[in-house]
Amino acid sequence: MRYQVPRGTHDVLPGDVHRWHRLEADFREFVSRYGYEEIRTPMFEDTDLFLRTAGDTSDIVTKQMYSFEDKGGRNITLKPEGTAPAMRALIEHNLCPPGTIARLYYVSPFFRYERPMKGRYRQLHQVGLELVGSKSPLADAEVIEISAKFYESLKIPGVTVLLNSLGRDECRAKYQEAILEFAEPVLRDQGEEMRAKALKNPLRLLDSKDEAMVEAMKSAPSILNFLEEDSKAEFEQLQQLLTDAHVTFEVRPEIVRGLDYYTGTVFEVQSNKLGTANALCGGGRYDKLIKELGGADTPSVGVGMGIERALIVLEEEGLSWPAPRPDAFVAYTGIDTQAQALDTARSMRNSGMSVVVDPEGRSLKAQLRQADKLGARYVVLIGEDEVAKNVVSVRILDTGDQREMALAQLLTLAAEAP
Ligand code: HAM
Repeated sequence: MRYQVPRGTHDVLPGDVHRWHRLEADFREFVSRYGYEEIRTPMFEDTDLFLRTAGDTSDIVTKQMYSFEDKGGRNITLKPEGTAPAMRALIEHNLCPPGTIARLYYVSPFFRYERPMKGRYRQLHQVGLELVGSKSPLADAEVIEISAKFYESLKIPGVTVLLNSLGRDECRAKYQEAILEFAEPVLRDQGEEMRAKALKNPLRLLDSKDEAMVEAMKSAPSILNFLEEDSKAEFEQLQQLLTDAHVTFEVRPEIVRGLDYYTGTVFEVQSNKLGTANALCGGGRYDKLIKELGGADTPSVGVGMGIERALIVLEEEGLSWPAPRPDAFVAYTGIDTQAQALDTARSMRNSGMSVVVDPEGRSLKAQLRQADKLGARYVVLIGEDEVAKNVVSVRILDTGDQREMALAQLLTLAAEAP
């Protein structure tokens, strides 16, 4: 039997992994400029953590969790998202005592049993961040600005933020009533499951996949007409801050997000290169989650950015980064020159070069072919002649130029190489 990668997952192969390294490194560097620090949490948590936070009407909780009982009888779930685990850790280690601010980021796989398609996987990867401890619209603006500017820094074109506010509890409650009433004629013809879900969380109606409901929701009342004065003022301030930061955005009242913990601002960045699963990232404010998990009342806002989705768009735009090449391939002519070749390679590595040597002692022709295939910058040739003269022959593969030099000189070149 030939085994294959599990459905909905993918291998990241050597020819591609540099793109992951680059995106992750760029993200770390980018967010550290704003003062974010990395947090790493385990791949699994108590199932209850996600039941409490993602919400029992969310697709994640109802359909997508990889949950199992471990050998100790504990109910465990592979983490489907990063916010709840990060907040669990924040409370456990008291990372944000009252009156302080914490800025956390993570780079992590997550696990969701979804129907796989382009840009949608069962093991997905995100870079994400959480700004904890501020209820100011400046915090929302910071997180949204980082999201938009990070994509800009990657040169992903046409980045637009879709923005909405879910307001405070009071206005959300009024809105939920209104939208239920509005949807009632369509809901009447729906199955029991959908009706129950809608009754429990009427906001779900806005991201229903049911055709009749999608159609009906096009003329649904807007939540923005239900915002009370404070929420309205904060939402306006946020928009002004984003305008000042030159972040392009569109207000889209239909953006409600698929997780139940959001309060106030919600946003997504979408790309038309992605088809149905078109969100490059999504996030928002979750002012109640930390208290829900037993911590102090701590307002927070954050975002999760899909790594695969950013890489797909970069690839489709022809914006990929070049694969790294080894600096040199040290080729040798036979058993008599092998020790010298290995020694030369070692010295070169000590001065910081990446150097490949053929372990098989194949013909010089075969070694040169390998060097070419790997895209090495130089071939360093060690034959009997070179050993006798205590030099190396260096061929620059891009130009074909070849000259002899002392090893010391080669090492100086290595130090000067870009
Ligand atoms: P989310 O919208 O579920 O939010 O996921 C964030 C991003 O992860 C999506 O916009 C998408 O780019 C990517 N993503 C989600 N599911 C998949 C999948 N199956 N395959 C590939 N990519 C996927 C969250 O996870 C929240 N924790 C974000 C957040 C952080 N909110 C506040 N702080």
